[in-house]
Amino acid sequence: MLSEFVKRQKAKRDLNQCFMNAGLYQTYKNSGGRQFYTFPKIHDVSFLDDCVLYAFTLRNGMDPKEVLKKEYVFLQHFGKNIEIAGDYKQFQLIVYNNGIKNELIYKYKDIKPIIKGMAVPIVCGIDKNGEWIAYDAKTEPNALISGEPGSGKSTQLRSVLSTLIQYKPADELHLYLGDLKMSEFHLFRGIKHVKEISVFPDELERMLTKVHKEMVNRSKILNKAGVMHIDDLPGKVPYIMLAIDEIVMVMDNKNIKNMLVQIASLGRALGIYTLNSLQRPSHDILDTKIRSLLTVRMGFRTTDLSNARIIGTPGSEKISRDIPGRFILKRDNLSEIQAPYLTDSKAKQLLECHKSSEPIKSDIEEIEKPSELTECDIFSEVLDDEIN
Ligand SMILES: Nc1ncnc2c1ncn2[C@@H]1O[C@H](COP(=O)(O)OP(=O)(O)OP(=O)(O)O)[C@@H](O)[C@H]1O
Ligand SMILES: [Mg+2]
Repeated sequence: MLSEFVKRQKAKRDLNQCFMNAGLYQTYKNSGGRQFYTFPKIHDVSFLDDCVLYAFTLRNGMDPKEVLKKEYVFLQHFGKNIEIAGDYKQFQLIVYNNGIKNELIYKYKDIKPIIKGMAVPIVCGIDKNGEWIAYDAKTEPNALISGEPGSGKSTQLRSVLSTLIQYKPADELHLYLGDLKMSEFHLFRGIKHVKEISVFPDELERMLTKVHKEMVNRSKILNKAGVMHIDDLPGKVPYIMLAIDEIVMVMDNKNIKNMLVQIASLGRALGIYTLNSLQRPSHDILDTKIRSLLTVRMGFRTTDLSNARIIGTPGSEKISRDIPGRFILKRDNLSEIQAPYLTDSKAKQLLECHKSSEPIKSDIEEIEKPSELTECDIFSEVLDDEIN
């Protein structure tokens, strides 16, 4: 989180840059012949709920007509949701927050600094203040990603999983993926972290049985060792992320549902976390038991308020169809977020260097090797620059 001071300084720098590009400055030379610029004086920057308000005064001799004539430069800098008003000297610029970027290109190098130090970072996107929002699954272990078809659920899963793969070594994070629409997770095949991908309900049931068994084993180990969390055990135990795209296709299978509920209730201390997507929420699929466990909710566009309410993200019904990737995030509070956009083909390129040359073992091992930076970290940064 940026402190208020740093935020204000950055806002002032942005406005001065805009003055520069708009030609709203005076120059003078000091006695050594060095040229200096003076911009309009910025008196105040206030961050209000729905806008940022800048107050500035022109220097004597500056033409006020120039400010309005150069409005296009302000639009270029601050987006189309702005207002500029003033007289011959005093001006006010209002930049409305609903100008969250409608598209946010995924770049791992932008994300890396904000997830530093997190155990299992889940990157959500950028909020109305332009700040990245991410949380740690270690403390908020279970999430639901919901919204109507085409609203951006699978894309969000793709970028969350791609970030995890780039961030964590394969011996510290194991991924178990359910792709029941058989359309989304093919790009993760062969990645070292990915222990299994199931595409049929019976495969998913077997996969969950395995994760469930591991959960029971870990519980016994913790109990025996007399510690509260797998991180307190002497050896390093890998975290497990179970991600299922479209849980509706299996929620009528009682065994699957029960295992999912147990994993979601007991997983936190055992380092087992879940991410679940669901197109059409309804009370019978998302009964109160499972809803209370999936505490983080990403509510992408819904058809109506009642669906948004079931997800727990009122406001999702107001999201425009023209903005895929926009959602309401519910954690302690509700906030509007734009998800980063990572295409399938760019993700494939980013993940290429995380592929294994050997067949992937699906059983869970204890690892003692410390994490280290790999060539992939460097490669993904280069790729960010090349692609964008
Ligand atoms: N964060 C984003 N930024 C920009 N565009 C996006 C974003 N997320 C998704 N889109 C666009 O929306 C399309 C649909 O996204 P996606 O497949 O993720 O939706 P979905 O919710 O999983 O749909 P379905 O329920 O049919 O599986 C994508 O192909 C892409 O064009
Ligand atoms: Mg999808």
